[in-house]
Amino acid sequence: MDKILVLDFGGQYNLLIARRVRAEHVYAEIKPYNKITAAEIAAEGYKGIIFTGGPNSVYDESSPHVDRAVLELGIPVLGICYGHQLMAYTLGGEIASAENSSEYGKTSVTHKGGVLFKDVPEESNTFMSHNDYVKTLPEGFRAVACTSKCGVAAMENPEKKLFGVQFHPEVTHTDYGRVILRNFIFGVCGANADWTMDDFIETSVAKWREQLAGKKVLLALSGGVDSSVAAVLLHRAIGKDLYSVFVDHGLLRKNEGDYVEKTLGEKLGLNIIRVNAKDLFLEKLKGVCEPEKKRKIIGGEFIHVFEKAARELGKIDVLAQGTIYPDVVESGRGDSAVIKSHHNVGGLPAVMDFKMIAEPLRELFKDEVREVGEKLGIPRELVRRQPFPGPGLAVRVIGEITEEKLDILRDADAIFREELDRSEFRETTAQYFAVLLDTRSVGVMGDSRTYGYTVALRAVTTDDFMTADFARLPYSVLEKASGRITNEVKGVTRVVYDITSKPPATVEWE
Ligand code: XMP
Repeated sequence: MDKILVLDFGGQYNLLIARRVRAEHVYAEIKPYNKITAAEIAAEGYKGIIFTGGPNSVYDESSPHVDRAVLELGIPVLGICYGHQLMAYTLGGEIASAENSSEYGKTSVTHKGGVLFKDVPEESNTFMSHNDYVKTLPEGFRAVACTSKCGVAAMENPEKKLFGVQFHPEVTHTDYGRVILRNFIFGVCGANADWTMDDFIETSVAKWREQLAGKKVLLALSGGVDSSVAAVLLHRAIGKDLYSVFVDHGLLRKNEGDYVEKTLGEKLGLNIIRVNAKDLFLEKLKGVCEPEKKRKIIGGEFIHVFEKAARELGKIDVLAQGTIYPDVVESGRGDSAVIKSHHNVGGLPAVMDFKMIAEPLRELFKDEVREVGEKLGIPRELVRRQPFPGPGLAVRVIGEITEEKLDILRDADAIFREELDRSEFRETTAQYFAVLLDTRSVGVMGDSRTYGYTVALRAVTTDDFMTADFARLPYSVLEKASGRITNEVKGVTRVVYDITSKPPATVEWE
């Protein structure tokens, strides 16, 4: 399989670059610039290298640099933004910084031919974000594109297969970014588009079948996309030797526990051990109002319940997890590895004794995980489902959690999701749910006064959940949801819509 290396210099778009390459069916992996040597790069047999952007200036003492040997391996290199400047600097060019030369946002670029610009109009929009620029080219290079402020918006040395662009081709605001990346991946590197999810499934199933033969494997099934796909993939490899423990903490959405059990257990044949622990969790959460305390209690209790269920299964050899590629990249960044706490199971390997951890999705991006899931026969509605927090509805019932409040929230939430799912906004809204406030207000129903709960509706658009915008839903959808909730859910007198973005708010209310 052909591979492209994305050498990470701290750019905020490092994941995006790898995703764009993979979208062309070429495998791409990200490595921090200081975690791989030129010799290792050569030994791995990469077809090409992409240097990412980064927040630094090449002359800063602490800025990341690259071994010149990487540029002399004969492997094609594309430098993006900081990577472009770094390539020029490393090969003897000059970088300068001038206040009036910085560019940010959509910028028109004019090119005069060059390998990367095949099939790109002479003038097009790109996305720029830089202060420094390449002032003097290294020997053997020529400038192939410019902007009104920047003489070297792109450079090339086709003989040595080295290329640099000041703009970000991986960002959608660069109109011909995809064409430029394709010109590099296929035109320059000659990579084969052989990364497909069918091949991934086949190789992965064979690999895990061999590695896990005769072993007893345990997986914590949350009902979310990642753990479900990991479970179905491993089930295909080892069948009943995979034990999927599904802890139902009673904080799931309406009918969710039964749906997961039915879909993955009955329809797909997984060996599911469902632990109904609602009473235990509600007991522990009694009287607790503070959000962080709720999370801690749920996280801790989850581990207890899971461990107990695991002990009852006897000796387990392997723990399987639904870790995906962005988690791996995040964990390995910087000099000290940070282990991301994974949903509710982050502490498990530390407290339980396993010989081995199996993470079948650790090379995949979320959209690839979804594709694998669908190919494995998991229904689309499960594979495409929106994110759901580990602590569940506990962080959507504001204040103290009671069974009554959870029931009200579940019904209101189901109505809102149903109404939005019926509308065209389903595809563009990343997450939508209801929240139950602990504020009551007065209403009137028939001839009598009511005094009931307030439901807040939350819907956001976002690509990465780091920032989010409240969704501009039409009044017709909101009106329908509000009308149905106040009519059909006993105990609710008022429905409000949350019009705050993130920041300053977060997506969840707690
Ligand atoms: P916030 O509220 O931080 O949410 O803006 C961003 C995204 O993360 C989800 N979320 C969680 N997911 N465990 C999870 O697995 C959690 O404790 C948790 N808290 C928030 C949230 O639903 C949104 O998609």
